[in-house]
Amino acid sequence: MIEDLWLIGIGTGSPAHVTGEGMQALRDASTILLPQKGEGKDDLAQMRLRIIAASGTAAHIVPFDYPVRDPDLPYQARVGAWHDQIAGRWQAALSRAGSTGPVALLVWGDPSLYDSTIRIAERLAPSPKVRVVPGITAIQALTAAHAIPLNSVNGPVHITTGRRLRNHGWPEGADTVVVMLDGECSFRWLDPNGIYIWWGAFLGMPEQVLHRGLLSDVADSIFELRGGSRDNHGWIMDTYLLRKV
Ligand SMILES: C[S@@+](CC[C@H](N)C(=O)[O-])C[C@H]1O[C@@H](n2cnc3c(N)ncnc32)[C@H](O)[C@@H]1O
Repeated sequence: MIEDLWLIGIGTGSPAHVTGEGMQALRDASTILLPQKGEGKDDLAQMRLRIIAASGTAAHIVPFDYPVRDPDLPYQARVGAWHDQIAGRWQAALSRAGSTGPVALLVWGDPSLYDSTIRIAERLAPSPKVRVVPGITAIQALTAAHAIPLNSVNGPVHITTGRRLRNHGWPEGADTVVVMLDGECSFRWLDPNGIYIWWGAFLGMPEQVLHRGLLSDVADSIFELRGGSRDNHGWIMDTYLLRKV
């Protein structure tokens, strides 16, 4: 049974992104649940281990494996079943380890943004007391790397996924659009006229790559840069901000 569950945002790839509060929470935790397999990116697992080591925590590290999603289920049911299974794996791993005291999980970026850990925690029974330690998001890492404000003066910001941009086009009435979870450079589906793009991959990591410009000028070069960077590294995570100019 988990009484206290701490979800610690760790930022987007630089150990220096972890806040003082995050480091202290790692030190105060009794147990750290560590995903072992299933992320498909060994260097991300190594990053988590480096952060844990840097914190100087004496917490008990309890590994767990991610389950595999059932491809036969429809999307919503598939995600729901997968979340149930992950919650079950946390509980099973902790009871095997006989853990007591606060349990910590390191969450990429910030737990509030395109991450399901909070939703998975809601499936635990009995419900633990959940504490969230904020982390630097990919959006913050992007705007900082380009030294730009997120919003235009008094303007709204629309955050979306590559799939939604492809399927629904430019969000109605939007001025600034941030796109995440995009494996396809979905900006190529837009009419590029009058749109500026600030793009970044591996934000916060030594491999960080940035590009910016009018979409009509740079769409092809970002597509090529992304493909080359992904081939060199084996995987890629990128985020971009589009603004009407
Ligand atoms: C599952 S979401 C996790 C977001 C995370 N919780 C956050 O606060 O940024 C993964 C997406 O975040 C973005 N992302 C995460 N880390 C990134 C990085 N180091 N560089 C660029 N984009 C990143 C990418 O758009 C990626 O597809």
